[in-house]
Order: sequence, then structure tokens, then C-alpha cells
Amino acid sequence: MHAPLPPGKFSLENAVDVPCMMGETDLALIQQILSDLRPNALLLEVGPWLGGISQHLAQYGTLHVVDRFIWSDLNAQNHPDILSPGQSFRPLFEDYLAKQGAAPVIHQTELEDFAWGGDLLDFCLIDMPRTASDLWHCLHSIVPSLQSNGFLLVKHGLTPDHHDMTALLGALVDHGRLAPVRTGQPHWCNIAVFQAGPKSAQALPHRNSLELITDVSGHQIQHDTITPETLTLTAARMGVIAAQGQTPAACSLLRQQKPDPQMLAAWGKLEPMLEVDSAHAGAFAAFCELLEYHHSAQSKSHWAPASQSLTWALRHSWAAYMDEKDTNDFDIDAIAQAFARGDFNEDEEGEDT
Ligand SMILES: C[S@@+](CC[C@H](N)C(=O)[O-])C[C@H]1O[C@@H](n2cnc3c(N)ncnc32)[C@H](O)[C@@H]1O
Repeated sequence: MHAPLPPGKFSLENAVDVPCMMGETDLALIQQILSDLRPNALLLEVGPWLGGISQHLAQYGTLHVVDRFIWSDLNAQNHPDILSPGQSFRPLFEDYLAKQGAAPVIHQTELEDFAWGGDLLDFCLIDMPRTASDLWHCLHSIVPSLQSNGFLLVKHGLTPDHHDMTALLGALVDHGRLAPVRTGQPHWCNIAVFQAGPKSAQALPHRNSLELITDVSGHQIQHDTITPETLTLTAARMGVIAAQGQTPAACSLLRQQKPDPQMLAAWGKLEPMLEVDSAHAGAFAAFCELLEYHHSAQSKSHWAPASQSLTWALRHSWAAYMDEKDTNDFDIDAIAQAFARGDFNEDEEGEDT
């Protein structure tokens, strides 16, 4: 028996069945993170819908929610007989939460008009953007507002379908704005979890998400924090960069990675989802070969000469690139041209004599 609850508070007797889009695995991960928060935390939820997750967040402190609260065509199709498309679902949201004694602070707005201007956040859950540019807009005000031990959770942050968002999150990690959290989550859970990174409070000089994703200057991949989730972030970032035709930048990321067969698994899920610029399809295919070569074995055996095929020319060149610490460019197109000219034959003749 528990002590009587205040009127309207949640109990098994008056449980409210609040509709929720996220499933049990997502909720379990969210609750795992919530259990690490300080008492009376400051929480932000971007995209609460009817409050299925908000009801849990509200138990941990002051909850702010951001949503336009407009019932969409998809909502009406998936949940008929609740509201018509275009109607406000804010009263439903407020009602569900009130029945549990919660009254979050509501920011009713379009995502593009939202910027967090409140105190430092202990927790933020984002389940609204589905593109890197929307996520970029959202994170611009949120990342610098995270407490040093605050948490950021992004739904679909690890979904291959939304790999541009994953690539952006990977870039924010590599640029020191976010730090990945080792959660032990199951592989089917697509929420990406972070804490503030060492540079989270610093403004980013980049104008848009693609500029940040493709800027590979001056950062090192942190090998001690590798998890299945960080491999997914790195794979997405490399994939987006390579698919754009910027293979030298993708190669400089690849070069920093320790061979890891788990990366092949992450890449295998991602590669079919990438939209490859047709002008760069050849270089992209060569990059995929190199990635497989790089991650498939710790030590490589070069049993065929570079002159044997373009693949072998690339492999030999990759081994030299890995050894040479002072250059940053691996130019697949230039190697292909050199191979076509027969330069690799000459090298071997030179070596033999
Ligand atoms: C996928 S639902 C969130 C589901 C919720 N996390 C759950 O598990 O029940 C996304 C929410 O974002 C809101 N939303 C989508 N696009 C928006 C936009 N551009 N501006 C404001 N709100 C938006 C929708 O109204 C919806 O409530």
C-alpha cells in the first residue's frame, strides 16, 4: 500500500492511458537517463505530441515542451476518431498531463521560430526534426544551453533513413560540442544519447549543417569512446561526405579509425540509403572498397602488385597513406588517372631494378 496521492496524481487506480508514439525500448532508455538527473531538474521536450513521454519527464522537475500542436493528416490517418486534420491537440495534451498533476510550460510554435532562451538544461529530448537542417536549427540554441553533465537525446539520431541527422550529430561529437554516452542500448533503439562536449558552450562558425559535416579539419576521432552508436555516427558522417564527392575528406576520417569489423556492419546498413552524386559515383565506389579493406583486417597482406588492377593500386596507395603521417590528402581520382596512365607499372619496374 502506498500513501494516498494528492487528487489528480497518477496511481494505478486512476491510470491515464496517454497515447505515445515511442515504444517500450525507447521509454526504457529515457528512464535510464532520467534516473541520473539531479532532483528538480530542468527538462525540455521538443515534439511531445499527446504527452506519452512528457508524463514521465514531468516527474523529474520543471518540464518545458515545444510543439505546434496541430493534428496532422498522418495523425488523423493513424488515429481516427480523435481529431480532424488541422485541429489543435493542445487541449488534449494539457488534459492528459493535468490528470497526472503535471502542467508543463508550453511553447506553442513552429520549429523554425523556436530557440531555447532559458536556463541551462539538465535534459533535452528531441523528437521532431527529420532532416539535418531542421536538427541544426534546433540544436543551435540547445547545445550551448546544456549543463556540463546535462543530457541530450535525439530520436532517429541513429536511423539509417535519417543518416543526414546522424552525420550532423557525428560532426558535433567530432567538433567537441557533444560527447556520446555509453548506454548499452539494444541495436534496434534509434535514440542517440549525448552529454555536453568540452566545447559545447562555444558558438559554431559554420553556416549550415553540411558545412559542419564536411569540415574535417583539426579534430581527432576519440578511440577510447567507441561504441556501436559512435560507429553509426562516424559511418553516417563519412557516408554523407563521400556521397557528396568529397572523398579526400572522407578518407581523412577513415584513416583515423582502428580496423573494426563492427564498422563494416554499420556501413552495410547505411550504404544502400546514401544518395550518391552521379558525377562522383566512381570515386564513391572506390571509397567503399577502401573502407572494406581498411576495416576487414588489422594487418594487410599485399599479395598482388599495384599494377594488377585499380583496386590493388588503391590498396597499395592506402597502405602508404596510412604510414605517412604528414599528408592529409588521399585523392582517389588522381590515383585512378595514374593507374590509367600506367604509372604503377613504372613504379614496380623502378622498384625491381
Ligand atoms: C513524432 S511526434 C512526437 C511523438 C512523441 N515523442 C511520442 O512518442 O508520443 C512529433 C511532434 O512534433 C510536432 N511537430 C512536427 N513538426 C513540427 C514543426 N515543424 N514545428 C512544430 N512542431 C512540429 C508534431 O506536432 C508532433 O507532436
